[in-house]
Amino acid sequence: MKILVTGGLGFIGSHTCVELINRKHRIVVADNLSNSNIETLEKINEITGVIPDFHQIDVTEESKLEELFNKYDFDGVIHFAGYKAVGESVEKPLDYYYNNLVSTIKLSEMCLKYNVDKFVFSSSATVYGDNKSPLKEDMKLLPTTNPYGETKAISERILKDTAFANTDFAVSLLRYFNPVGAHESGLIGEDPKGVPNNLMPYVSKVAKGELDKLYVFGNDYDTVDGTGVRDYIHVVDLAEGHAAALENLNSGVNIYNLGTGKGTSVLEIINTFIKVNEVEVPYEIVERRPGDIAVSYADTKKAEKELNWKAKRNIEDMVRDSWRFELN
Ligand code: UD1
Repeated sequence: MKILVTGGLGFIGSHTCVELINRKHRIVVADNLSNSNIETLEKINEITGVIPDFHQIDVTEESKLEELFNKYDFDGVIHFAGYKAVGESVEKPLDYYYNNLVSTIKLSEMCLKYNVDKFVFSSSATVYGDNKSPLKEDMKLLPTTNPYGETKAISERILKDTAFANTDFAVSLLRYFNPVGAHESGLIGEDPKGVPNNLMPYVSKVAKGELDKLYVFGNDYDTVDGTGVRDYIHVVDLAEGHAAALENLNSGVNIYNLGTGKGTSVLEIINTFIKVNEVEVPYEIVERRPGDIAVSYADTKKAEKELNWKAKRNIEDMVRDSWRFELN
């Protein structure tokens, strides 16, 4: 298939480009480079032997999108482009609502206009709010604690309504749990600008000595050791999940959790990182981070059954691959 990948040079986007190329799809990347690097294009070439067509555009800009849809006869769109920092979304809500919602609306309009009938969307487990894990796709969504999370919930709704009104337009809403790790080549991975917000990139920076210590946000949750429990998923498994979602997308609205179904605590992550990578990770327990929930992990049965997809990589693989990328 010929696929438009928005945000294709970002963390999850770049790994998905590699997976799609490996499966012989033709991809076209649209990325404004606001939180990604042009060098990733060359890295994709090193891994796959293929340089995707690249367009440095902002997918909120209708005229630029129109040129793209005119030029290529796309079979589908995978929409990754978006702002994703939770804290920043609280400070700049309008930027988040504008960017994340207008991009989804404009891309959907183009798909309808140019008869592109497959749309795969990057959603997040954050849309479940404080529901009790294991989280299932048919649960009633609860409010999230920040504008970023709301942009995911509203984008899901926009796509759902659009698919109901246009029966030829099929959407797949992928709810990611906590993506970590990196491609085994060590060439592409997560490279956040500034001080990382998320656990794994922060741990990597501490292990490398670029940050003094890790602050563990709370050890009084009702969990195995009191620290927060999350469903960490290797980014290559996640990329394979996108390819499976795209290849199985035929009609209607399809929602899938992309997780492993297993919860891991912050201390378990730290200890596995130390053991597998033979490094030190100094840490200090501090107050809970506002907006955090105690436990989040997926029910993975639906994706297994309908997409024939299952995450294969474990926490050891995740910490090893994250560290290899950091050292590169
Ligand atoms: C966060 C976002 C979520 C987003 C996801 C993207 C919040 C509240 N949620 O999820 O909306 O979809 O990132 O990957 O920000 N932790 C520490 N110290 C740190 C960093 C994190 O102890 O320096 C803990 C957290 O309290 C949590 C776990 O590590 O228990 C994972 O945190 P993080 O990587 O930020 O992911 P989430 O909060 O699950």
